[in-house]
Amino acid sequence: LGRHMTVLETVDSTNRYAFAEAEGGAPEGYTVLAERQTAGRGRRGRPWFSPPGHGIWMSVVLRPTFPVFRAPQLTLMAAVSVAEAIRERAGVSVGIKWPNDLLLPDGRKVCGILSEMSAEAEEIRFIVLGIGINVFGREEDFPPELRGVAGSLAQPGSPISRTALIQGLLGRLEADYRIYQNEGFRAFREGWERLNVSLGRTIAVQTQSGQKIGWARRIDDDGALWVETDEGRLEKIISAEVIFDPG
Ligand code: BTN
Repeated sequence: LGRHMTVLETVDSTNRYAFAEAEGGAPEGYTVLAERQTAGRGRRGRPWFSPPGHGIWMSVVLRPTFPVFRAPQLTLMAAVSVAEAIRERAGVSVGIKWPNDLLLPDGRKVCGILSEMSAEAEEIRFIVLGIGINVFGREEDFPPELRGVAGSLAQPGSPISRTALIQGLLGRLEADYRIYQNEGFRAFREGWERLNVSLGRTIAVQTQSGQKIGWARRIDDDGALWVETDEGRLEKIISAEVIFDPG
């Protein structure tokens, strides 16, 4: 991964850019990095705050041979890869919030992952794996609605090299993606569980059909979250927004 790379000063969204390049034939591993995004995309149609110099805004094109149904768990694998690269290269222990948010020890979000796919019938044409890591933004640099919610890896006096982090990340992702292609999420479940900060907590899950409160019990080999509701019923959550400590 990253052998073909485009580094941009400014782009609307590295995911949008990489997606267009992939449609034009960009090979597997093609990577786009930008210093700043003017329309960074988050999950669920939200914006991703991406000012210049603050972070790593990166998208990687993948052309996997596995079927469409195995695509969603790829982002859980990526969360494990990114968390381990951050620990190795930035010395910060981040935790994973289901499915793929990375949080600082104090609970603020430092990294988000957004994958976008092009598929035809059950066949994947390509996946754009977008990773946003807040590295240098200070509390006061974030817009008011993100203060206390978003955080950055760097602490005053502890320098972090974005280049080293990107190198570590691409190396990890490449190795993990290979394992994922052969073995699927099963090979990452233990690593995900070790890093996770979601299981065993009372959470609210926000799905299209509304909000449910329950106890996060476990994830399965498909990366789905199993939540026990008040009535003692176990529910399988495939896609939702998790809210910790609902009031
Ligand atoms: C989330 O909502 O948690 C996902 C955020 C993903 C942000 C990254 S930054 C690089 C890439 N380009 C985008 O427009 N989004 C992703």
